[in-house]
Amino acid sequence: MLSTLRVASRSAAAREANFVVLGARQASAWSKVPQGPPDAILGITEAFKADSFKEKINLGVTTRASPTFFSSVRAAEDKVVASRSDKEYAGITGIPAFTNAAAELAYGTGSAVIKNDRLVITQTISGTGALRIGGAFLERFYPGAKKVYLPNPSWANHNAVFKDSGLEVAKYRYYNKDTIGLDFEGLIEDIKAAPEGSIILLHACAHNPTGVDPTQAQWRQISDVMKSKGHFAFFDMAYQGFASGNADQDAFAPRHFVAEGHNIALCQSFAKNMGLYGERVGAFSLVCENAEEKKRVESQIKILIRPFYSNPPIHGARVASAIMNDPSLNEQWLGEVKGMADRIIEMRSLLRTNLEKLGSKHDWSHITSQIGMFAFTGLKPEQMDVLAKEHSVYATKDGRISVAGITTGNVQRLAESIFKVTG
Ligand SMILES: Cc1ncc(COP(=O)(O)O)c(C=O)c1O
Repeated sequence: MLSTLRVASRSAAAREANFVVLGARQASAWSKVPQGPPDAILGITEAFKADSFKEKINLGVTTRASPTFFSSVRAAEDKVVASRSDKEYAGITGIPAFTNAAAELAYGTGSAVIKNDRLVITQTISGTGALRIGGAFLERFYPGAKKVYLPNPSWANHNAVFKDSGLEVAKYRYYNKDTIGLDFEGLIEDIKAAPEGSIILLHACAHNPTGVDPTQAQWRQISDVMKSKGHFAFFDMAYQGFASGNADQDAFAPRHFVAEGHNIALCQSFAKNMGLYGERVGAFSLVCENAEEKKRVESQIKILIRPFYSNPPIHGARVASAIMNDPSLNEQWLGEVKGMADRIIEMRSLLRTNLEKLGSKHDWSHITSQIGMFAFTGLKPEQMDVLAKEHSVYATKDGRISVAGITTGNVQRLAESIFKVTG
């Protein structure tokens, strides 16, 4: 038996060899596929992993550095598991108990657009999926120029998502390198200069990567200018609750725009504010003119989603829904979000005071005035290289650090490293 097998495999190998020698093998269909560049963030994680220094610090990513796992989320998940619910497909737009609660969280309890049946909302594959569905809908139905204006800089994936949706991408001024703050005049000028009816992407709060947000007064002006130009506001809200610790306050911009009569688009992610990263829980919504328009738009959103992925995953949405629909879990969760935001605010302040104590002559006030999970340090790419190579501190080359990765245990060493690099 053994020898028969050996003979069989030998002859298979011989056949294979002959095949190659005779040049009969077809050229691979993928022989011309070019090598793509590696993902910048994943590269940092790899370099971090390869570093054997015990006190190395990774400030490149948000996920694993996130120190808190919400006990409200764990309790909600236990509840979902204990309910032993079925594993039936959700509808194309997801689980209604989830989307209804997500809408209230974003637009406010008792929001008029919800009450008046003007809101189309669908569950999505987290925030990225929401952006992609939004991009696809705009590409198919937006009546004006199919061009999205992104802040400069913006979350790197925005560019790819909208381009892959078949839209053109342009930039408007946002960040001022010299002040390490908002270039408000530049922003207003660029939004005014964009052709009437342009699509403008706005980070609702905790702008990624800069951590620089407009003030409420500045949001009001942005809304006015956009209204006067007939621009379309497309909000990305990936960090609701993270900026101020208060989910209502963080939703100020989209709510103000809606109150001012903008029929906005809004993307929501529950990756960060519920720690549900890999569960991929999100929502995409569009405010419509009236209930009749909503019905038509909703039908087309379903037609778009169906060939994409048919219907969304259910587990994470059930967990999020259990939190938002149970008053005591909801209260616990909001408290935990606040705790997380407060911790971030405290780490910012510790980093700044440590740098000042070391005698740094630079102005580090932007570290505490910026908002959310990320701080734009103002460090140059060469300085970020030295931070990694000589101090085992890893973060993206643009000088962005994830504040969620700073702890009372590593903040002093971090400040010393930054001080040595910046002088
Ligand atoms: C601005 C912004 N939008 C959207 C996302 C999407 O995240 P996810 O797809 O994990 O929800 C992120 C994640 O980092 C982000 O920073």
